[in-house]
Order: sequence, then structure tokens, then C-alpha cells
Amino acid sequence: MDDDAPDELFAELKTRHIGGWGVVQIAAGTGLAVYAMWVVILQPGFRKVPLRLQVPYVPASKAQVNHVMTLLRGRKGGLVDLGSGDGRIVLEAHQQGFIPAVGYELNPWLVRLARFHAWRADHHEKVSYRREDLWKVDLTECKNITVFLAPSVLSLLQQKLQAELPDDALVVAGRFPFPDWTPCRVEGHGVDRAWAYNMQAQRQNTPVTDSKLNNELTQEKGST
Ligand SMILES: C[S@@+](CC[C@H](N)C(=O)[O-])C[C@H]1O[C@@H](n2cnc3c(N)ncnc32)[C@H](O)[C@@H]1O
Repeated sequence: MDDDAPDELFAELKTRHIGGWGVVQIAAGTGLAVYAMWVVILQPGFRKVPLRLQVPYVPASKAQVNHVMTLLRGRKGGLVDLGSGDGRIVLEAHQQGFIPAVGYELNPWLVRLARFHAWRADHHEKVSYRREDLWKVDLTECKNITVFLAPSVLSLLQQKLQAELPDDALVVAGRFPFPDWTPCRVEGHGVDRAWAYNMQAQRQNTPVTDSKLNNELTQEKGST
């Protein structure tokens, strides 16, 4: 084998003019690859969710997870992560003593990945990852809820939580705060920040009726 071959190839590539057609081919290839990744890996499970409510997967940073857990310190019982991604918050919550720790996630690949992480940590029988639409989950029994979703859906989620959660529930939001609620505590800075909300306090400040929430959810479904 000729040792100079890679160097020569590299030199030739550097001097070669790609041209307009080459640029079009590269752009088309990249676009196709991104589209294929979206359809095969990111899109499954979201077909029935209105476009405006679709939230992409971005994992919480280690610092964000720590801040969420700090805000939950002293709390007991179960925990639910709405849009659980690869399951990191649920797994950490279980390790901090929250039982049961449950994640709701629509993307089946992420549900599998979360289960794999739980199995690798030897906690697969203790945590639960369910492939369900968070907008359809009944939250009336939940006491500890974590969310890391896009700002565009937080106003609607705020209304669902306010309509369903018990008064003694604590909601912890990562990266983006709820638009109309006042946090009882805040941890961290920048993109790793987390906000804790006491449910009873929110309910006293911003009353929401079931019918208002139902109207908004119906409108969202009708708009697709
Ligand atoms: C920003 S990621 C956060 C992942 C994880 N909670 C974390 O903190 O690392 C949001 C997740 O919510 C999921 N998601 C978005 N809409 C959903 C829905 N309607 N039902 C269930 N999961 C949803 C996405 O697939 C994505 O994995």
C-alpha cells in the first residue's frame, strides 16, 4: 500500500473545485439525511400530536438534573417526569428515593433507551417508562412532577397541571419557567436553571377552570 496515498488524496480534494452542482448534491444529501433521521428516530409516536405541541428531544444537562433534585429534596412519594427522554431524571429520582418513579415519553426509541439505561444501572424493575402522550395522562394522583419542555407548550401545560394536580403537589421545571406562575424556589443559572412551584399557591393566584383547559386542548387538536 502506498503511504503517500491519503496525503495525495487530501491535497487533490483541497485543490478540487466543487462547483454549483456539487454544492446542490451536498445540500440535497444533507437534507435527506436530516429528514431520514427525523422520520425514523425523532418523529415516531408524534403523528397524532398537534404540530404546535411537538417538543424535540434535548437531554437535561448534569447540572440541570442536580438542580431539579435539589428542589425536590425533602419531598416523598412518587415522581412523574412528563416527556422523559432517555430517562435520566426518572432514574436519578428513583435513586433519591422517589417511589414509584415514572416517565411518560412518546418516542419509542427514547423509551427503549431509557429502559436500557435503567437495566444497565440495575434499576429496571424499579422505574417505569411508559410510551404515552403526556397530554392524555391523568395527573390527579401525582405529588412530584418534573418537566423540561419547550416554552411554546408551557402555558397549556400550566393549565392542565393546575386543573388536575392535588394542592400539595410540587412541580419542578427545567431550563424554561412556566409563564404565569411564581416559583417558590429557583436553583442554578442560565440553561441549567430549574424552578419549583407549589401547586396550592399557583391555584390561589391564577384560577383555571376545567372547561377553559378543555376548550384550548380541543382547539389545538382541531388546528392540525
Ligand atoms: C426537552 S426533552 C426532555 C427529556 C428529559 N425529560 C430530560 O430532562 O432529559 C422533551 C421530551 O419530551 C418528549 N415529548 C414531547 N411531547 C410529548 C408528549 N406529548 N408526550 C410524551 N412525551 C413528549 C420528547 O420526545 C422529548 O423526549
